[in-house]
Amino acid sequence: MKKISLGNSDIQITRFCLGTWNMAGGPGWGPEGEEAGISLIRHALDRGCNFVDTARVYGSGKSEQVVGKAVQGRRDQVIIATKMMHCKPEEVGPYIAESLDCLRTDYVDLYICHWPFPSLPLEPFFEEMVRQRESGKIRAVGVSNFDLEQMRIALNYGVVSLQPPLSILWRIPHDLLDFCRENNVAVTPYSPLAQGLLTGRYTRRKTDSFGGPREGNLLFSEAMLPHSLQVASLVDGIADSMGSTSAQVSLAWLLQTPGITSVIVGASSTEQCDQNLGALDVTLSEEDYSRLDEAGRAVWDRLGPDETMWGWKPT
Ligand SMILES: NC(=O)c1ccc[n+]([C@@H]2O[C@H](COP(=O)([O-])OP(=O)(O)OC[C@H]3O[C@@H](n4cnc5c(N)ncnc54)[C@H](OP(=O)(O)O)[C@@H]3O)[C@@H](O)[C@H]2O)c1
Repeated sequence: MKKISLGNSDIQITRFCLGTWNMAGGPGWGPEGEEAGISLIRHALDRGCNFVDTARVYGSGKSEQVVGKAVQGRRDQVIIATKMMHCKPEEVGPYIAESLDCLRTDYVDLYICHWPFPSLPLEPFFEEMVRQRESGKIRAVGVSNFDLEQMRIALNYGVVSLQPPLSILWRIPHDLLDFCRENNVAVTPYSPLAQGLLTGRYTRRKTDSFGGPREGNLLFSEAMLPHSLQVASLVDGIADSMGSTSAQVSLAWLLQTPGITSVIVGASSTEQCDQNLGALDVTLSEEDYSRLDEAGRAVWDRLGPDETMWGWKPT
């Protein structure tokens, strides 16, 4: 599978990253049990994907442990991204130590600030991250859920990537994407299938229950769901006309969006994973790209500028 640079770093990643939030042991979604999670990660690696995303908070280290077990014996072939919440500088070292322990490794390729906390300054946090990078425990520093103003600060510390929520249904401001492109910051969207909304499962099989974090996802809320499903039906129609699946069309739309480096996709089975990987071979016509772009943006425009997908953000 073709690899590209992770922003300004020397790290080479595939444009498909396996997300492992759903391997945190929570109910309602994801592979059943640790062994299934390990097999799924190994399957994605066998198929050529070299990029895996996890976080400290996913099951309080459970997801990191699953990743750690899955990459045993092939650590040097895998780019591992993990995240910690924004914290005081003296907490950074202990969090990294915990990650290294759970991941059974002595370095993390990309360590990401999961969410910025407005009550804490960013500078001391990043100063400590830079020290950790210089010590060799992490190869590169990234951020997630940052706005433009926060991104400008992060860039002073050599941050190489932004992990934003981004899909046909959920957007980020143009100026944020432009800033990343101009500064060669990699953009690696999360929840690119809107947690399954954009896969046809809720339009074609109306009995699918939501489960997992979808229960709290704004796109699944009573007010938004009818609009979300209208766009999902448009995705289904385009997929049918191309002989592709809805998930592939949704991921192809993102991969064709200028400035997008790699998509972080969750899956609960090898079948879903294979289907999603197939998106790398799908190309949308300009017309279909624009139809999806406009329809999805109209849904996102219904939301207030400060909304997050989870109806929550740190204070
Ligand atoms: N930085 C952050 O704040 C943040 C936030 C959210 C996520 N993330 C990262 O991004 C990754 C992906 O995000 P996500 O899991 O929220 O959303 P997602 O990738 O949009 O959706 C994943 C879920 O969609 C369903 N799915 C996937 N492929 C499918 C297919 N081909 N057909 C039918 N259903 C399919 C599965 O649900 P079932 O399991 O129910 O089958 C799967 O668990 C996470 O694992 C995590 O690594 C980061």
